Amino acid sequence: MAKDMHTQEWDSATLTKLDVFEQYVHDWFNITSSYGQNEKFNALEIYDLFCGSGYDGTGKYKGSPLRILDAILKRNLKGKTIKLYFNDNNEEKIKTLKEIINNEYKILSDRKDIKIKYTSVDTDVYTLYSQKYFKLVFLDQYGIKHIHKAQEFLTKGTDILIFIASSYIKRFLEEKTFKKYLDVNSISKRDFENKSNYETHRIITQYFKTIFKNHFIAPFSLTKDNGNTNGLIFISTHRKGQEQFLKTAWKIDENFGEGNKNIDRDFTKDETSLFYEPNEPSEKERRYAELLKEFLKEQRSNIEIKYFSLDNGFLSRHTNKILNSLKNHLECEYCNNAKRGFHLDRDEVKVKVRLK
Ligand SMILES: C[S@@+](CC[C@H](N)C(=O)[O-])C[C@H]1O[C@@H](n2cnc3c(N)ncnc32)[C@H](O)[C@@H]1O
Repeated sequence: MAKDMHTQEWDSATLTKLDVFEQYVHDWFNITSSYGQNEKFNALEIYDLFCGSGYDGTGKYKGSPLRILDAILKRNLKGKTIKLYFNDNNEEKIKTLKEIINNEYKILSDRKDIKIKYTSVDTDVYTLYSQKYFKLVFLDQYGIKHIHKAQEFLTKGTDILIFIASSYIKRFLEEKTFKKYLDVNSISKRDFENKSNYETHRIITQYFKTIFKNHFIAPFSLTKDNGNTNGLIFISTHRKGQEQFLKTAWKIDENFGEGNKNIDRDFTKDETSLFYEPNEPSEKERRYAELLKEFLKEQRSNIEIKYFSLDNGFLSRHTNKILNSLKNHLECEYCNNAKRGFHLDRDEVKVKVRLK
């Protein structure tokens, strides 16, 4: 059985996980709070359904619920109401969290625009309070038991950030207790053959892409000091969500946009290596450039190229750089009054590109 993380000092992988979450909460507010004032958008909801008691065991580091509050209190809510749902099946933890918030966030008693609902139930039986509004759901679970809840919660306008114990899936995949939570036709031991531990979460993300076929997905790997790799998976019903999460991931991991470790052991991005070349493209970018060239053997619109970029974990700025370097080998057919450029941030077809 996993140790109770709220009685211990958190390791750096856990802190990075929370940093990604907190940064994403900021970025999510930037997008969702800018939608117009109407009944559908006048409230925003965040569900933290494995929320814990507020701090780590040393009292030094804040957990997800307090980080959500810090992110909210720093900003102008532009007239919107924020509804927060904090749940943990451990009643003591919810009690402690409530006390901390009452003592350390007294300002909330004057804020009618921030509402908190505390519950202590098994997330397995939790249902979301509304079908309206933009929602962010954080499922920071230890195991894999609650993957199906992500499927249940994913309605229009919902973004889910779920922590997956990928290293456990890799280890216990063949065991009966695990098999019942997985689609064993879509993942097997063979998927991990000849792959390093660091790549574990990438493989699990591939599995998620097969079971959430109609959704938009992006990963963030979290490797512990012992090499075990778990991670976050972002799942959204819309492209903009996926793009926003990738922007967050690239802010936290400037080299690869994907994790707290150099997953491919790429020496060009290792400051302690003789081969360190900060301005050179990474191994990951080089592989992506080859995939992109292959993709462009058929004519593709600016929109298709952008989606290809996001599905491969890259932002428009990365893809633009590659397209510019290939400029003389591309055939561009412009439409809708466009004349030059690749228009990866436009929602209408402006150019169709093919590798000559
Ligand atoms: C990994 S911790 C979450 C940490 C939290 N995000 C933080 O930053 O402090 C998982 C939490 O889920 C709670 N938990 C475990 N199983 C649960 C379940 N089935 N339903 C609801 N909460 C559960 C545990 O008590 C624990 O506090």
